[in-house]
This record gives sequence, C-alpha cells and structure tokens, in this order.
Amino acid sequence: MGKYLNNFLVALSLMLTSSLFLFASADESELPMVGDITNGTRLYRVHCSVCHGFFGKGDGPAKVTLKKSPANLRDGSLMNARDDSMLFSIIQTGCKRSGCSPAMPGFGNELSSLDAWDLLAYLRSMHVPLTWFFPQVDQYVVKRYHIGHVGNEDFQDGQKERLRKRIGKVKPEELFQTVFTLFKAPTHHRSPELVPQQPRRLAQLKKTNKLGYVIFTQLQGPRNRKVPIGISLDVNFTITKLVATLVDPGIAGEYNKRLEKYVGMGKRGDDPRFKTGRDKMSKVFDKAVQRVYALAVEGANAFELEEKDRSWADGTF
Ligand code: HEC
Repeated sequence: MGKYLNNFLVALSLMLTSSLFLFASADESELPMVGDITNGTRLYRVHCSVCHGFFGKGDGPAKVTLKKSPANLRDGSLMNARDDSMLFSIIQTGCKRSGCSPAMPGFGNELSSLDAWDLLAYLRSMHVPLTWFFPQVDQYVVKRYHIGHVGNEDFQDGQKERLRKRIGKVKPEELFQTVFTLFKAPTHHRSPELVPQQPRRLAQLKKTNKLGYVIFTQLQGPRNRKVPIGISLDVNFTITKLVATLVDPGIAGEYNKRLEKYVGMGKRGDDPRFKTGRDKMSKVFDKAVQRVYALAVEGANAFELEEKDRSWADGTF
C-alpha cells in the first residue's frame, strides 16, 4: 500500500510541476526509477535558471555574458537525443567531456549523485518525452537529416520535387529535420534505449518492429508567431499526435484544440490538402500543418532510404 501511495505522490508532484504532461506507467514493475522532482525543481532554480531561464528556454539573465547560448531545455529534439546517463554526466562534469560548449559548467562538487538524479527528473518534465507519442517504445534512433541532400541524385530530386509541389518555396533552415524513429523490441526496456548510430546496431532494428517517427519543429501560427510543436507519424505516415509545447498551458491548450483535428490525417504516397474549416484561422492552421507534415514525411523518407540501404542484402526489405 505504501508503495502505491508513493507512486501516487510522485505522479501528483509530476503533475503539479510539469505544466503539460503526466507520464506514469500503469504497471508498477515498469515504473522507471523516479527522482524527487520537488527537490529537482528547487535545485534547478538555484543552480541552472540563471543561464537556462526560469522555464528552461535558454534565456536566463546570465545569457548575455556567455559566448555560447545556454541550451533550450524544453526542446524535445535536443533532450530526447540525450539518454539519462548522458544528462547525468553533463550535470556532474559539465560539457567539457561530453563535447558541448565548456560554458556549461559541471556541478559534481556541489551536487550529490542523488541531487543530480532529482534534477534529471525535473529536466525530463520540461520536454515532451517520446513515450508520450508512442507509449510502447523500447528503442529509438535519432538523426539530423538535410532534406534534399540525402542519398543518390534520384532520391534527392524526388524529395525536392515533392516539396516544391506540396509547399512551394522552402527556407534553407527548414530542410534540416531531426528525426526520431521509434521501435518496440522483443525485450522490454525500463526506459527507451537510445540506439547509437553504429551500423551493426542499426542493422539489428527490425522494420517490422517500427512504431513510427517523431519530429520536434516549429509551426507558423497566426500573426507569424513561431509555435514549437511535436508531431508523430505512424509507419503509413498518418499523423498520430500533434502537440504545441509552449510554456503557458492556456495558450498551448488553445493551439492544441486546433492541432488535435489533424490526428488521423495524411498517408503514405498521398499529397494531402488539409481542410478543417472555411474560416480564416482554420486556413492559417491548415497551411501551417501541411507544411510541417510535408517536411516530416521527407524526414521519415530519409530514414527509410538509409534503412533500405542497410537491409537490401539480408532480404528483409
Ligand atoms: C554558466 C551558465 C550555465 C549554468 C549555470 C548551467 N548551464 Fe547548462 N548549458 C550552458 C550552456 C552555455 C550550454 C550550451 C552548450 C552547447 O550548446 O554547447 C548548456 C547546455 C546544457 C545542456 C545540454 C547539453 C547538450 O548535450 O547539448 C543541459 C542538459 C544543461 N545545460 C543542463 C544544465 C543544468 C541541469 C544546470 C544546473 C545544474 C545547468 N545546465 C547550468 C550554460 C549553463
């Protein structure tokens, strides 16, 4: 009983501190080890917010004194690409050993490993985890693709042509898409395993176990406001989730009411024209989501091209 109460309290505190997401597993044996998020929040405000900002957006007051901008800790693209052990070591030893900018100090002297674990729990509550999109995920890979510059010429021309047809002109920065590809696995993992970009490991990921794709990007909202979002596609390129990841739950909620309408739309090989209403606002969203969708599909295509190249020899494709 005490255990259940504990789990409940952990879930409750997660709910109170994370503005958007509650992610507790129903099966108790599956629950990951959870740090004390209340202590994590406190530690974050004392040690991290001066650079990373109160809400983790990378806009703390000390930003102006640094050569390198502090990371946006709400960015799902960045944070889901780091597993717990990577984050743990960044908190303890800073960026020097992990390859990011030395402007990010280590806290090994000030914080115990339990403190670091509590901080980690708080960091994890600031971004949308991959399990929110596909709760069954066991393993995942991540890669940043340059759309229209991947693979052989035919493939590149195909990507450029499709994009031109579907969304017209594309800005150079829109062509960079960080794609997470998610799999279930025969052996269930406590928390999803980030599979490194090593040929042997990649070749072990079975196409038949693939759940789908997740991309964190920005949507061009009304009045040209850039809205951070996460979008997931299943293996047929149908939208399974679409969520605004803004700090303010009220504003995020308003966007999400609109974005939910696109779930279930789009499919492989289609050139969809999204239509959710005749009014001006619906048209703004239809156009913006269509753009994000077309780019996400090409990101998924880029993964599939590499997957095909890896597996042609063993006949699984
Ligand atoms: C003195 C300013 C400063 C403080 C204080 C600070 N950071 Fe950072 N942090 C940075 C900078 C700058 C970067 C960007 C490094 C880069 O992009 O190469 C960064 C990057 C990061 C990253 C991303 C690293 C990666 O893999 O790219 C994480 C996670 C992080 N910080 C967590 C924390 C936590 C947790 C704390 C508090 C315990 C903290 N930071 C305190 C400046 C700071």
